[in-house]
Amino acid sequence: MASTLLTNIGSLVTNDPSLERGPLGIVERAAVLVEDGAVAWVGQASAAPAADKSIDCEGRAVIPGFVESHSHLVFAGDRSEEFSARMQGKAYEAGGIRSTIEQTRAASSGELAANARKLLGEYQRSGSTTVEIKSGYGQNTESELRSVQVAAGCTDEVTLLAAHVAPPEYAGRQDDYVQMVLDEMIPACAPYASWIDVFCEKGAFSEEQSRAVLLAGQAAGLKARVHGNQLTYGAGVQLAVELDAASVDHAVYLSDADVDALANSTTVATVLPGADFSTRNSYPPARRLLDAGATLALGADCNPGTSFTTSIPFCIALAVRDLAMSPDEALWSATAGGARALQREDVGSLRVGARADLVELAAPNHLHLAYRPGVSLVHRVWKAGEQVAG
Ligand code: NIG
Ligand code: FE
Repeated sequence: MASTLLTNIGSLVTNDPSLERGPLGIVERAAVLVEDGAVAWVGQASAAPAADKSIDCEGRAVIPGFVESHSHLVFAGDRSEEFSARMQGKAYEAGGIRSTIEQTRAASSGELAANARKLLGEYQRSGSTTVEIKSGYGQNTESELRSVQVAAGCTDEVTLLAAHVAPPEYAGRQDDYVQMVLDEMIPACAPYASWIDVFCEKGAFSEEQSRAVLLAGQAAGLKARVHGNQLTYGAGVQLAVELDAASVDHAVYLSDADVDALANSTTVATVLPGADFSTRNSYPPARRLLDAGATLALGADCNPGTSFTTSIPFCIALAVRDLAMSPDEALWSATAGGARALQREDVGSLRVGARADLVELAAPNHLHLAYRPGVSLVHRVWKAGEQVAG
């Protein structure tokens, strides 16, 4: 199989702490050998092995592809008017999800797939090489089934967000909705998904309802992840830890006990500052979580309601400026942290054996991602060794 050497890399982030500098394992004046879609060798360019083909990075930085562990790409419609109203003082409420449910149900599978692929292309062009995709805008068995099928056509990381918000036909009958999820929706959709998710929040689902959905998903072979503590203090974090969920996402309103629970568990806290930015919500207490020893992932949460961005670089800039994360912590969380949140070992780092997902930046080092907010710095992207952007 042909080998390719990326060489003359100014500064290479590997996330392999056994290499050179710090937890990001930064190697200066580096090279990476790619063989069969995987990283075959990493080190200083001056010591690089021979390869069939060589790519000159001309001193630019190279980082692992971003691992986005939280997106809602299967939907139809537009909520820009709702966004505009929020920016003029209207509060965000989970109920806004219902307008997307109506439009998603009315769309064809082809339309949903085309929209999801378009957004996935945006993610890839801005450096994300692994993207989890949730359902959650169908909220009946037929429409959720279509949603997970569309998602499965786009990614290996499919999440059944069975209980996002009770649809209008179940208004005032939330327990009946949950029962339908357990009896019909999970059995029908589980074959197309790896994950079960629930929105445990005031205005969405209670602790008991959320536990029932997650347990039924786990019994059907799905692994748990939870939307929790986004808009209010609540039970989401504790429930996620209790059920050994891979991740609790948003994690904005946290008690000291929530922070302790996360610090003493394997559940990752996934911060999604794009959602807080676009809802004028508070930002998650990332510094408190990091200082307590919790593991953080950083995602963009692309969805039509709270965060219509696919740009992880934008979220890195927010994390550094407004969540008091260092540029190194933000980059680690958007790569290795995302991989932890998806329980993946093959992505999120550039160790030997990892999938060759690389992003070359139009910058000498990764600090520029936060230092140059709003500037498109992604020069070229490779996924499994194939150039997919730039
Ligand atoms: O991740 N929190 C719940 N779900 C989405 C928002 C859904 C919507 O408003 O359409 C989120 O923020
Ligand atoms: Fe979400």
